[in-house]
Parts: sequence; C-alpha cells; structure tokens
Amino acid sequence: MSKVYSVPKSIAESALLNESQYSKMYQQSIDNNESFWAEQAARIDWIKPFKTIKDVSYQKDDLHIRWYEDGTLNVSENCIDRHLATRADQVAIIWEGDDPSVSKSITYRELHVEVCKFANVLKSLGVEKGDRVTLYMPMIPEAAFAMLACARIGAVHSVVFGGFSADALAGRIIDCESKLVITADYSRRGGKQIPLKNNVDAAAEKEGVKEYLQSVLVIKNTGDDVVWNESLDYWYHECIAQVEDDCPATEMGAEDPLFILYTSGSTGKPKGVLHTSGGYLVYASLTHQYVFDYHDGDIYWCTADVGWITGHSYIVYGPLANGATTLMFEGVPNYPDSSRFWQICDKHQVNICYTAPTAIRALMREGDSYVNSTSRQSLRLLGSVGEPINPEAWQWYYDVVGEQRCPIVDTWWQTETGGILISPLPGATPLKPGSASRPLFGIKPALVDGDGMELPGATEGNLVISDSWPGQMRTVYGDHQRFIDTYFSTFEGRYFTGDGARRDEDGYYWITGRVDDVLNISGHRMGTAEIESALVAHQEVAEAAVVGYPHDIKGQGIYTFVTLNAGVEGSQALEKELVQWIRKEIGPVASPDFIQFAPGLPKTRSGKIMRRILRKIAEDDFANLGDISTLAEPAVVDDLIENRKNKN
Ligand code: PRX
Repeated sequence: MSKVYSVPKSIAESALLNESQYSKMYQQSIDNNESFWAEQAARIDWIKPFKTIKDVSYQKDDLHIRWYEDGTLNVSENCIDRHLATRADQVAIIWEGDDPSVSKSITYRELHVEVCKFANVLKSLGVEKGDRVTLYMPMIPEAAFAMLACARIGAVHSVVFGGFSADALAGRIIDCESKLVITADYSRRGGKQIPLKNNVDAAAEKEGVKEYLQSVLVIKNTGDDVVWNESLDYWYHECIAQVEDDCPATEMGAEDPLFILYTSGSTGKPKGVLHTSGGYLVYASLTHQYVFDYHDGDIYWCTADVGWITGHSYIVYGPLANGATTLMFEGVPNYPDSSRFWQICDKHQVNICYTAPTAIRALMREGDSYVNSTSRQSLRLLGSVGEPINPEAWQWYYDVVGEQRCPIVDTWWQTETGGILISPLPGATPLKPGSASRPLFGIKPALVDGDGMELPGATEGNLVISDSWPGQMRTVYGDHQRFIDTYFSTFEGRYFTGDGARRDEDGYYWITGRVDDVLNISGHRMGTAEIESALVAHQEVAEAAVVGYPHDIKGQGIYTFVTLNAGVEGSQALEKELVQWIRKEIGPVASPDFIQFAPGLPKTRSGKIMRRILRKIAEDDFANLGDISTLAEPAVVDDLIENRKNKN
C-alpha cells in the first residue's frame, strides 16, 4: 500500500474546491458536458458570443474537433486589456535574470504598452493575420511580449526551444513557412552565453529557408557582437522607436490558430501541433486556476522554458488570462549554486512553484543544506510536470522543500492536450507519491488493452481519452492525415496518448511512461527515429538504433547502438564526433549519453530491429532478454552483451 497524504488543514480551509465540490463538479462536467463547457467559457471575454459549443467527431473518416466555433475573441486582449480596469498596476510578469542581481517587474499596464508596440513592429515588417512567425528566444520578457503580440494581430507563433540547433530550427521554419524569425543576440544560462542569432544566421543559409524567410527581428539582450545581414536583420529597439504604443486587437474566430509547437513522435520528423484560440484559452485558464488553486495576489512560478508547452500554457496564457502574477526565470537551478530556486522563492515571495522531476532529482543529489539555508515560508503549493516523478524525489520535494506543509500537484499532460488532464487539486485530493491521481473536469480517461478493449477497475493498460476537451490540439500543421494516424487510429474512436498507466482501487492513475518509441529525457520529448535518422546521415554510419535506459537524474538517458560502414573502426574520437554531429543535427537536447559500436543489430528475419532486446542490453538486464529465437542471427546478441560489459 502506498502512503496517502490527506489535504492539510490550512489548505482545506482556503482552497477553491474541496473533495466533494470536485466530485460534484467533475460529475456535472461529464453528465452535462456541453453546458459545463458553455459555463466555463464565461471565464474569458468574447467579442461575439458563440452559439455552438462543441462539434467533435473522433471517427477516423470524419475526424474534427471544434469548440465555440462561431464565437470570436482575441487572446491577447483576454490576457491583458480586460485586466486594465481592475489591475493595471498589478505586476503581471516578474522576471528574474540568470544573474541573481538582475530582475524586473512588468505591470499589466506596462505589458499592454509592450505588447502593442511589439505588435506594431510585427505589422511594420509585413506580418498579417494567419502568417507564421518563428520565435527562437531566451527566457526574457520579450519572449512573452512576442507571443502575445502575435496573438494580438492573429499571427501564429511557433516557438522553437533555444536548445535546438540551426538545422532543427531551419526544418521548423520551412515546415510552417515562417516569414519572420524573432530572436536575440545571445541568451544567458548558468553564466554562459548561447549564440542564438548566430544559429538563426546558419538556419537562414539552409536550403528551403530563403524561400519563406523575409526578416529576422533581433532583441539586443547581452549586447555582444553579432554578424549583421542588412537585407534580413532588424534591431528590435530601432523598430519600436518608430511605432505607436497602441494597437487594436484583431477579432479572431475561436477556431483560428493561436500557435504551432513542434514535438517529437515515434516516427518521422517532429510534428507541428496546432492549437486554436478560444477553447485553448478557456482550458488553460480553468486548469491554471484550479490545479494551482490560484488566488488573487498569489505569486506563481513555473520554471519551464517558453519553448515547451508548459511555458505556453502555464507561464504565459493560463496565468495571464487569470490576471495572475507570473514569474519568468532566465537561468538554471544550479547557478550560481544549488539554492537558486529557493532563493528566488524567498526573493519574490513565491507562493506556488511548478517544476520538473529532473530538476528536483538534480537538486536532491546536492543535499539538503542548499534548501535549508533558505526560508521558503511563502510557499503554499508545489507542482511537478513532464515525466513520472519517482516516489523518492516526491518525498524529498514534499519533506525538505515544502516542509510537509505544501501539497504537490503531479500534473500529467502533453503538448497535444494543451493543458493538464490528470492532476490532484490541492484542496480536494489526498496525495499518493508518484500518482497523478484523478482526471480534471470534462476529461474521460480510460485504459484499454492492445485490442482496444476497455479494462475496468484496478488495472493497467494503454491510456486513452474517450472524449474531447476544449484545449485539445486540432491537427498536425499541414498534415491532417498524420494527426488522424497518430492519435485516432490505434484505438478506434478514442484519443491515444502514447502513455501507459495503472489505475488503482481508488481510481487514481499512475502514469508508467511511453509505450511507443518516444523518449523522455529530463522531461524533454525525443523520438528515437529522429535521432536514428540523424545518426545514419553521418558518412561513417551504416545503421543505428536508439533506446532509452534509466538515468538517475534525467529519468531516461539516450543509448545508441551504431553499426559502422565496412572497414571503419569505432574509436573514442568517432564517438565524440557522433555526439557533436547529433548536437549539430538536432541540438544539445538530443546528445547521446552512450554510444556503443555494434557489428550488427538484432533483427527479426523480416529485418525489423528488436528494440525490446536492445533496451534490456542498455539496462544491463541480460538475464531477461526474452525469446531471441526469432532473430535472424542470434549470435549478434552475444557480441552486443560483450561490448556492453566492456562499456561498464
Ligand atoms: O509520457 C508523458 C510525460 O510527458 C509526455 C508529454 O511530453 P510533452 O508533450 O513534452 O509535454 C510535457 C509537459 C506537459 C507524456 O506523454 N509526462 C508529462 N507529465 C507527466 C508525464 N509522465 C508522468 N507524469 C507526469 N506528471
């Protein structure tokens, strides 16, 4: 039996929802789904009210997902303008720099001016409603301004995480045909500088990019030298000096695209996950309010990067739609030292802190003294996202960081889901370490076996969602068929998450991890196929297979098996070269932890690589390889094991 932590008294007294309120509201959201979502839509302002609430079919041959379709709104107006009457002087964004002596606060009034000016700059560069704009930005307030400025004029942003390479950036610019890239000279992380502009320059040179890219807007962040291309580049500070500080918001249909965000899948190149305006904002607002039990005046901090969905929904859109004060942090957890997170909590009196298990594990390893040297009395609630949190890390977070006073919301969701789907609510859910617990409003999770048969009661299976919610992705940008094939074809009539889960006797969900070939490295999604195809593009590589293996800090590490071309010898120098190659092709986020040269890979007689065996070898679990009799050449397994042992 796992431990259960009941809701602390202080939280129960102040929380927005208690257990019976959650149960009642959840039941209503399922029984009267449309009226529930019609009521929730009132949490945002509509220019023209909607008449239709939900128009959804999960059937493969007629797949469509539409919410509030005939309503109109503007997302940036909802995140800024409508707060001006009541909270113009309230801080909207607290920004904490990488350097601990640098921070600033931006009020809603100031945010309005910044976003209007930014929007006018976009217009002056010829950006129009529906155009795609790629953001490749540091974690500075201008990243949020740029997103909201796009939303203000109806441009569709595609934020590319700064840890992706020039090649990866180029692929994403081409895929969505961006006419503008917004970047900065350099970003700062942990005292180091990352040459963002330089990477954009390299991307701009790639074949295919020139066809679409018309301008590059550059924020002067560190002020260090950059190469300047007169025909393409514009300094942001020069452009804003020439524009008005008001910009009317463009009226958008609820189903007009708000953003594209690329994410890795089990096959092929990354997919452009498309989210639209009305439903996404309603869902981000609802979940931010209830999951984080957000009360007016709370200081809320999500440590994610805006390059990931967590940064979109829970640094920018959800909190700002709710008139919250949201903290943005430029740096990393261990710079200048491992108490940085908790020093930030003290400095800005943070009440709610939402971070990732990988950060928690890394800080836990450094010992309690870095935590204990800070007060953390302002903290009321802790959150976790991105990967399963192991009970040991959960316990440390709960005992040491939160001093057994702060509930932990372990939030399960995905880029595709737009917002959190399964999570405890602080005032309503007794906590079990390691469990994301119960579904949020309107969410109908189910567990199915390999044939799609629903499994009742306490059981384990593939996690699917049986009905739509407003924050759900609408399509894969430019490839609707891929959307249908990836999410709606494995189990007919349901959304397939790609995750496995267990449900216990109390109806709590325990996410067990991906059941497909997607890795989760420090909470970052990577497709094995993507890394493999980058490896085989190297001139010395004949074949490659990539699997995940348990890693103490990252959750999963990247283990690559590489077969070289005939006559090429594996060496440490070549290993290094391949790591550099991956960093160039995809980015530092995909750096392999292990490269093992293999004379051959285990394949079935039909030529399919048996990853199950490779996974076991990577895990050092040689005793449980399972049946290898179907292999074309069982002897390759002995070679692999021998080489693996030599690696240890
Ligand atoms: O496997 C699940 C894992 O992260 C995947 C989604 O990754 P991404 O789209 O990058 O979004 C991450 C941030 C929402 C999921 O399919 N995952 C996310 N949160 C959890 C999790 N696994 C277990 N527990 C979680 N709380």
